[in-house]
Amino acid sequence: MLRIDQVNPTLDTSFETTFTWDYSRTRDGLNRLYEKAKDAQWNASTHLDWSTDVDPEREAVAAAERAGLPVGWQARALAAAEGSPLATWGDEEFLRFAVESQKATLSQFLHGEQGALVCTSRLVESVPWIEAKYYASTQVVDEARHVEVFARYLDEKLGGTYPLNSSLNALLSDVLTDERWDIVYLGMQVVIEGLALSAFGSMRASTTEPLLADLLRYVMADEARHVAFGILSLQEYYEGLTADEIRERQEFCWAAVQHMRRRSVTPELWEGFGVDPDWVLDTLTRHGDGRRFQAMLFSKIVPNCKKLGLLDAGDGWLRERFTEIGIIGFEDGDTGVEDLTGV
Ligand SMILES: [Fe+2]
Ligand SMILES: [Fe+2]
Repeated sequence: MLRIDQVNPTLDTSFETTFTWDYSRTRDGLNRLYEKAKDAQWNASTHLDWSTDVDPEREAVAAAERAGLPVGWQARALAAAEGSPLATWGDEEFLRFAVESQKATLSQFLHGEQGALVCTSRLVESVPWIEAKYYASTQVVDEARHVEVFARYLDEKLGGTYPLNSSLNALLSDVLTDERWDIVYLGMQVVIEGLALSAFGSMRASTTEPLLADLLRYVMADEARHVAFGILSLQEYYEGLTADEIRERQEFCWAAVQHMRRRSVTPELWEGFGVDPDWVLDTLTRHGDGRRFQAMLFSKIVPNCKKLGLLDAGDGWLRERFTEIGIIGFEDGDTGVEDLTGV
């Protein structure tokens, strides 16, 4: 595992900066989204009550009670597996795990938000349509605000941040070093943001801490627009691509989903407890609850790939891959962007 000061903060990239001299606004969906985004701005300093007292241990106990499960239930499920390194854990370890798990998850949200900030500024430069440049500029401000709130919450309320996860690092590098502007959209706006919406939603459903619940509610309202932006832009663009080009996009989606599956076990958290993350991934994949939880994270990515025509293009290659890992059942699910995209 790389420490955060070992992750190279610079990337060598090459992409085209595109001007457009056509200022007419003919894309209704993107225009509506841009108008919405201007009305929906909020100030993280004043809209959230930062004076809220947060006790991470108390919150871990309350969240478990709310779910009707014992504290550290995610780890308890693994303790029962054959030859489990968690077999000797007691209540103290499970509580510490629950507290650290929350911190590790929020830390990856933070780093992912910085990735989104950088990706979106790239979109302003590279996308060829004026409506998309307008909209993307509002998303740059949104993502800066998301970095701000997660960084502040981790620093002031949880007392620290975990390093960037190597899988998220690999995916961000893939997305940002690609020369094709639509890959930035696909990787960030559809895969990473789609996964983030599911992950924020499940944390919001479990937390009883009012500041975190408010913060997530505000962030999620922004993120739904971001996913809609990806869908609206890519639907139009993908209609004009060749079969080979579409296949490259399918393969990119699959590779991105694989990165995100590994990310979802938060290896940096397990390493801190002396547990091999590969054992965790392997055990979760075989264990019923773990499999269901992992699958839930992809509940928005699968239907969004379908909306873009990527699921069934060619010989249905991506459908087969999603079927193999048990996530195809989400293909017709509600992704929360339908009223924003009209599809
Ligand atoms: Fe964000
Ligand atoms: Fe976003």
